Amino acid sequence: MSQITVHRAKELRGTLHVPGDKSISHRALMFAGLAKGTTSIKGFLNGKDCHATLQIMGQLGVTIHEVSPTELTIEGSGRNGLKEAEGPLDCDNSGTTMRLLAGLLSPQHFYSVLTGTPQLRSRPMGRIANPLREMGAIILGRKGGLLAPLTLAGTSQSPQLRGIRYEMPVASAQVKSAILLAGLNAVSRTTVIEPGPARDHTERMLQSMGAPLTIDNHKISVDPLTESLTPLNMTIPGDISSAAFLIVAACLVEGSDVELKGVGLNSTRMGIVTALLKMGANIEIANERVEGGEPVGDLRIRASELTGAEFGGRDIVTMIDEIPVLVLAASQAKGQTVIRDAGELRVKESDRIAVTAELLRSMGADVEERPDGFTVAGSSTIKGGVYDSHGDHRLAMMLAIAGLVAVGETTVTSAEVIPDSYPGFEDALRELGATVSAGG
Ligand code: S3P
Repeated sequence: MSQITVHRAKELRGTLHVPGDKSISHRALMFAGLAKGTTSIKGFLNGKDCHATLQIMGQLGVTIHEVSPTELTIEGSGRNGLKEAEGPLDCDNSGTTMRLLAGLLSPQHFYSVLTGTPQLRSRPMGRIANPLREMGAIILGRKGGLLAPLTLAGTSQSPQLRGIRYEMPVASAQVKSAILLAGLNAVSRTTVIEPGPARDHTERMLQSMGAPLTIDNHKISVDPLTESLTPLNMTIPGDISSAAFLIVAACLVEGSDVELKGVGLNSTRMGIVTALLKMGANIEIANERVEGGEPVGDLRIRASELTGAEFGGRDIVTMIDEIPVLVLAASQAKGQTVIRDAGELRVKESDRIAVTAELLRSMGADVEERPDGFTVAGSSTIKGGVYDSHGDHRLAMMLAIAGLVAVGETTVTSAEVIPDSYPGFEDALRELGATVSAGG
C-alpha cells in the first residue's frame, strides 16, 4: 500500500499538460479493434484502467503495438474479426471496460467471461445486462445476473441480436455506449433515448469512423454495420476529469496562476468548469479548436474567492466524476452549496457521497450527506492528518488537493490507485510548486 504526503501550499504556478482522456482512450482501443486496418493513437492514457482494456483487446486477437507509453498503433481485423479469448477478461477496477465490452462482445458468436476486482464485482451490471438481454444476448452473472463475473454465452449457433428502442432510466454514457455497440452488430436499428446529456465520445468517434449512427437531440440510433469501421489517426485530448483536480487547486490556493494546455472541452464534460464559474472562479478558456472530432482548448486558472451555489438536474451528468473535488471547493467557498440529483455517485468506485462526506468531515469541513448529494456549509478550516482513499482514485486525489489548503501535513493512504486515471499526478503537483512526498 502506498501513500503520499502533501503540505499546505503557498501558491501554485506553471503550465502543464494533463494526461489523455480516460473515456476516449478506452473507446479508441475498442473501436480500433472493430476497424479494418491500422489506427494510430497519440495521447493515450497510460493508466491502469485503460491498460485493462488494452490487455483484453489483445486477448480478443487485436494486435497492438506500444510505440511509447502514450502512443499506440492498432491493427484492427474488421467488424467480424474479434476472436474468443482463452481465459477470463480481467477488467481490473474499470467499470467502463466491463460495461462497454459487454456491449461489444454480446453479439459475438463466442464465449466471454468479464471479471475484475472485488470493487468492480460489487458494482451494478444489470443496467447493461438487462437491455442487452432484451436484444437477445445470453448474459449470466452473480446475484441473478446483476453482478460480475459476467458470462456472455455466445456460440456459433446463437441467433443475431435484434435492435431495441431503449429509454435509459439514468443518464449513463456507459449504458448508452454498451447498447449502441451491441446495436452495430444487431439485425435491425437500435435507438437509445437518454434522459440527460451523458458524455458523447462514443457517438463522435463512431461517426468519424463511418458508423451508421444518427443523433436527434437525446435520441441516438445505430443501424447494423454493413462495412467495417474506418481506422483513424487520433490525438486524444487531455482529460478534463484529471484537470479538475488542478483547476480546483489553483482556485483555492492563494496567489495561484496555472495554465493547462490541450484539455478536452466537450460540452458533455464541462460541468465542473461551468460550476466553478458560477461560484466565481477565475477561469479563462483560450485557443479553442477541434482535434480528432473533440473540442480542445487551454485553460488558465487564477486563485479566486468562491461563493456557494446550488447544482442539480442536468448539471450533474456533465460533472459526475468531478463532484467530490467540487464538494472540497464548496467547503472553502463563502456560503452554502447544495448538490442534488447525484445519487449515481453511490455506485462509482466507492459510494462517493458517503465517503466524500466522511473524509471531508474528518478534515473539519461541514459537509452533510443527502440521499442524492450534499449540503456544504462553506469557509471551513480543514486540517491535515492521515486519511484513506478507500481505494478510489478520485477520492485519493481530492484528499491530496485538500492537503494543499489544509493546516499541517496531509497523508493520503491507499494512494496506489491514483494512476488508475492520473499517472504522474504527484509530479504535476510538484511542477506547480507543491511539496509532495511519496512513501511505500
Ligand atoms: C464513463 C462514464 C461515466 C463516468 C465514468 C466513465 C465513460 O459513468 O462516471 O468514469 O467512459 O463512459 P456512467 O456512464 O456510469 O455514469
